Amino acid sequence: MSARIIDGNALSQKVREDIAQGAAELIKQGVQPCLAVILVGDNPASAVYVRNKVNACEKAGFRSLKFTFPVEVAPDEVFDKIAELNADPSVHGILVQLPLPRQFDENKVLEAISPEKDVDGFHAENFGLLLQGRKSFYPCTPWGVMKMLEAENVQLSGMEAVVIGRSNIVGKPMAVMLLSQGATVTVCHSKTRDLHFHTRRADLVVAAIGKPRFLTGDMIKPGAVVIDVGINRLPDGKLCGDVDFESAREVAGAITPVPGGVGPMTITMLLANTLESARRVAAAKA
Ligand code: GUN
Repeated sequence: MSARIIDGNALSQKVREDIAQGAAELIKQGVQPCLAVILVGDNPASAVYVRNKVNACEKAGFRSLKFTFPVEVAPDEVFDKIAELNADPSVHGILVQLPLPRQFDENKVLEAISPEKDVDGFHAENFGLLLQGRKSFYPCTPWGVMKMLEAENVQLSGMEAVVIGRSNIVGKPMAVMLLSQGATVTVCHSKTRDLHFHTRRADLVVAAIGKPRFLTGDMIKPGAVVIDVGINRLPDGKLCGDVDFESAREVAGAITPVPGGVGPMTITMLLANTLESARRVAAAKA
């Protein structure tokens, strides 16, 4: 049996159409959603992600601002830019692309962004609200995964879910979101003793490991939903996920491809958060 392919491009396009319509309505009220992106250094993958984010803004009718700093920049220069953007009422979302060069304390940078403009959902205040099950800006990648599961009618309540990876960007918020929907969640990571044991009894596996084709078909329960958050570049330049797609698709019930799975949804949810932030500003003005 071959798994159903969960098409992130198609869902993304549908959601982005609604977002563009929402932006057009706000513009009529005199508020154009605006995302400011800060890129520090010359990480090629980060440069691609930032370019995709800026392009997506433009397609949705948002304004976007991009600020680039050299790799050896003094952190204060970046903090000054964040402070300026925090104070600018025409800016609704601020994103500092991670990872940052060594001289930065990433947590301090994320804390410097006003929680009302933290459209990445990385500020401790927004993270805390998420943990408490309260409204906040949700981190875009796990929120995109939740949207995909919803669109696929995956009934999370009572499900055995295994998240592989414990990062602040994906693994931890993913586990919390699944938990809030009633799944029984196990978080596995590099120190987990018997990963196969956990993944083979999971109805849902979310792979956010950062290792190409790590999760193979023999590690998956027949019929399980497999979500691949990985984006890895192979020596031949091609992209692949953390899941070995060819073997996994023979066992899984549904699976996301790479590219064209979770990736486009991450940017879509960034647009959704920025639109929401702009809506709050418009509502406060009215
Ligand atoms: N680096 C990898 N993923 C992300 C993300 O979602 N947001 C930011 N700001 N940096 C990242």
